[in-house]
Amino acid sequence: MKPLTNGFGFMLVFDEKAKHDWFRTRVIRALFPNKEVVNGYVSWYKQMTQQLVKENSYKISGIPGTRVDIVRNVINLAAVHWASDWLMGTPLKTKNHPIGLFTEQEMYDVLMLLCTCVFINVLPERGFFLKDQAQIFGDKVNSLIEKSIEACRLPRQRYVILRCIYIKKDHLTYLQSVFSHVASKASSFLFAQEEKACYPFLRRLAEIGIARGEMVSQVIGLSVGSSVNWAQSISQMVDFYLDDARAAERAEIVKLVQRDDAEAIELLHGYIREGQRLAPQFPGLLRQAAVTDTVDLGDGRKVDVRAGDLIFSSFYNAQHNETDFPEPNKVNPRRPKESYQNQGSGFHICPGVDFTLMTATEVVKIIFKLPNIRRAPGAAGTMASYTIQQVPGTDNRMYLDNTSKETPWPGSLTVVYDDA
Ligand code: HEM
Repeated sequence: MKPLTNGFGFMLVFDEKAKHDWFRTRVIRALFPNKEVVNGYVSWYKQMTQQLVKENSYKISGIPGTRVDIVRNVINLAAVHWASDWLMGTPLKTKNHPIGLFTEQEMYDVLMLLCTCVFINVLPERGFFLKDQAQIFGDKVNSLIEKSIEACRLPRQRYVILRCIYIKKDHLTYLQSVFSHVASKASSFLFAQEEKACYPFLRRLAEIGIARGEMVSQVIGLSVGSSVNWAQSISQMVDFYLDDARAAERAEIVKLVQRDDAEAIELLHGYIREGQRLAPQFPGLLRQAAVTDTVDLGDGRKVDVRAGDLIFSSFYNAQHNETDFPEPNKVNPRRPKESYQNQGSGFHICPGVDFTLMTATEVVKIIFKLPNIRRAPGAAGTMASYTIQQVPGTDNRMYLDNTSKETPWPGSLTVVYDDA
């Protein structure tokens, strides 16, 4: 994370409590200031997912059903738009906006590279190349974020000028409105200023009073930590419930997504948490021991670690323990929600747990409402992958991308649905 942030870092790498908490409280408040803003993001996710399904669905002449690559063209791109539109303000090149800088897929690749470098850069023989590439693209993204931060302040200056004039002449309503109109035209002509979705967040971030470079670090940190990992988690969950082995659960989910009552939503949340638990986004988290110590595993076992040791804490094993999850391999949407630690725990616990649940619910609703949704026949309908055991006891799923290169990130899964 440090090379991506000019050495400054982000809450995820701040181990000093006071510094970590100072940033975490303020940055997360800037992102999620109130319920209204959060609900706005969630309805945007719903609308964006619907739009992406519509835009990317296609038919093959003579073959029944409509197809869509639900991972490559829907879930992954929703995550890219989230980071680009709502956090960084990086202009994407789309059909409706052809003058953007990166295509959606290019931006996915950049975020994937940065996320790999931050979270799964463990093999030294690959680390140098990964860091090098991440630095090159990180610098470019950072300079775009910096431009957004600069631009987001302009409307505020305009507002301040106009407000001074309002105070002096508050009885001249008509004159004010004429002046306001002319001033706003002149201002948009001079500054070519377009209000972007991310500006309110960036303005709230600016109010914290940190330096420009530190602001950039918070934005890139949040973008990397809430986009491709979100997409991976949702993709693996959808894939999990599309398996034949989960036909009964899928039938239940298909019924639940038609309902909007509290009981249905609660059960849907249960299925999402179970999908995250049984097909975890990361197989585990890596830490480097700062000091020599003994770690209590909580079940009577203890492990001695020396300073510098690399520690792998297995999500998979933790989420399969029989004490917290009786019959751990069974999908049970009624397990207590307090049992889960799908997005970390303790000091660095993910602040996006509730947000992920809310957005995932909308995405799952749209996907499982597609009539008679099923996998496309053949390779297109699977997330081509194999499992390796880099760490004893925990399977790690690796995918093949469209050039047959191995990658930890799921890239494609085509589904078919009937015409409504
Ligand atoms: C399914 C989606 C997500 C997964 C699987 C996930 C996973 C995680 C995990 C495992 C951690 C702990 C990392 C560690 O201890 O090394 C974490 C931390 C973090 N996550 Fe998430 N996350 C997700 C979504 C989000 C979202 C939507 C946000 C946006 C707010 C977010 C922001 C963060 C931040 C800022 C941290 C660092 C917290 C700290 O250091 O105090 N994540 N996430």
